[in-house]
Amino acid sequence: MNKELSDLLDMAKTAAENAYAPYSGYKVGSAVLCEDGKIFYGCNIENASYSLTICAERTAIFKAISEGHKKFRAIAIYVDSEKAFPPCGACRQVISEFAPSIPVVFANQIETTESSMKELLPGAFHL
Ligand code: THU
Repeated sequence: MNKELSDLLDMAKTAAENAYAPYSGYKVGSAVLCEDGKIFYGCNIENASYSLTICAERTAIFKAISEGHKKFRAIAIYVDSEKAFPPCGACRQVISEFAPSIPVVFANQIETTESSMKELLPGAFHL
């Protein structure tokens, strides 16, 4: 993995520390790298009304978009659990809206996997 991606993953790991996940116990962090080099972080935020939960990836992307950044170079996800996972379907669709082919790196304390939006959401729906 190149340094840009491994630095991004370190930031996703730091972001996971702020996760609010009292119901699932999955503390997820994400960091998104903008085209101009700026980085936005996000964590998952759960709610007692479970369906209101937001994933770490969408928190990070929405923070970026809401601050005027719409072009992305990469996204990293870190989860503090036994199994690392790629973004869920809803997050894939949201990421794809802005960045249909960026690298996606996801990891836990044991393993790191590099993928891409093209691989994770082939045939994405775009208007
Ligand atoms: N979660 C994420 O933050 N990102 C994903 O891509 C999948 C799931 C969070 C949501 C919830 O707080 C917890 O992980 C368990 O689903």
